[in-house]
Amino acid sequence: MPNSQSNSLLTVQSDILQIPDSPPTGAGVNGETIHFSLIIPTYKERENIQNVIQILSRLLDEYLPGDYELIVVDDDSPDRTWEVAQSLMAEYHQLRVMRRQNERGLSSAVIRGWQVARGRVLGVIDGDLQHPPEVLGQLLRSIEQGADLAVASRHVDGGGVSSWSAIRRFLSRGAQVLGLILLPGVVGRVSDPMSGYFMVRRDCIAGVTLNPVGYKILLEVIGRGSIERIAEVGYVFCERQEGESKVTWKQYVEYIHHLLRLRLSTGILGRVNQNMGFPIRRFLRFGLVGLSGVFVDMAILYLLSDPSTLALPLTRSKIIAGEIAIFNNFLWNDAWTFADVSMQQKEWHHRLKRFLKFNIICLAGLVINVLVLNLVFNFVIPNRYIANLVAIAVATVWNFWVNLKLSWRVTDVK
Ligand code: GDD
Ligand code: MN
Repeated sequence: MPNSQSNSLLTVQSDILQIPDSPPTGAGVNGETIHFSLIIPTYKERENIQNVIQILSRLLDEYLPGDYELIVVDDDSPDRTWEVAQSLMAEYHQLRVMRRQNERGLSSAVIRGWQVARGRVLGVIDGDLQHPPEVLGQLLRSIEQGADLAVASRHVDGGGVSSWSAIRRFLSRGAQVLGLILLPGVVGRVSDPMSGYFMVRRDCIAGVTLNPVGYKILLEVIGRGSIERIAEVGYVFCERQEGESKVTWKQYVEYIHHLLRLRLSTGILGRVNQNMGFPIRRFLRFGLVGLSGVFVDMAILYLLSDPSTLALPLTRSKIIAGEIAIFNNFLWNDAWTFADVSMQQKEWHHRLKRFLKFNIICLAGLVINVLVLNLVFNFVIPNRYIANLVAIAVATVWNFWVNLKLSWRVTDVK
């Protein structure tokens, strides 16, 4: 390989997370392709990196001599993993190293690596030897035999986890079930959607903007790529010998966030979102905030009017409770649902103006609520609870839509 003698670090791209159709040119690379690029994302893997590179090189030298590359993408580890990796480049000529200083996270690290990769097949493997390297051969073979995506799985024949605690097994399976409910079309396509060990044909993901949160890059590849044939190969998730896992509760939250984001931007909902211009994401947030208001309203009503507490008159209590709930909803909507808009108009008089508008619109919403309830109950379905549900739905859409157009109006931003 002509250019690999220099051991300079790879430049990190900072544009959108998109894989080009063919390898990028520049930095000593002339747009020539090779068969396989394997990304090794690392964070604090100083103790492991040399071993990993050695084992992977030995294997791949055998399977694909001269036709592969290893790309370490390190997030500026405090233990200077990138430096150790860089020092190995003299010995392993197919090794390239990226040190990211402005971005963090496992999924985006993998994509940044793929962006500079030269392979027609793009893969990823953990940098801590928990993914047995021997499986690479079977994965590569699956792709040769026509799979678009080959996933190493803990949940097919030959797969498993070595000694996970009951709690971690439960959490892992729970996460999978949640994924199956929210995103059956993505999560249901593989037995191990949490796998971080897989390879995919470049063609299947080139040109689409990937937008992952957190750890689970495979979800993003299946959700947004155009993948027809999937192969799975069993593997046993080994124990970590050196260093420690970076998984904390935060990864579980990010996982749910990722599922919801994919849910809203792919499939039917994604099409509605994009084509009909209905801001589903905002609407869901608005609905959740509304729900929180119900609880606030109930709690205040109890505190003020219950015989065991203040025992104030019901109507007076309800008016106060309702207004406090409106105030609660306003705060959350301003800080969350419409945060992007309110950020641009932070001054107090702007906030006050929004709050007054919100109040008036919600009051009108209440009137609409009562009207629809009566209309539906008297003329359509003589069931007060169904009628009330319809009324609440209509009033919520009214509240949302009018507030979107009048209170958090994007157009009157400077
Ligand atoms: N660049 C970069 N940036 N690498 C990271 C980061 C990060 O923010 N966080 C973790 N890594 C690297 C680690 O150094 C390791 O090489 C790999 O990503 C996996 O991280 P671990 O913290 O070891 O994860 P794990 O062993 O708990 O989880 C693994 O198993 C899951 C299966 O349940 C990962 O392989 C997951 O990808 C896999 O889904
Ligand atoms: Mn690990």
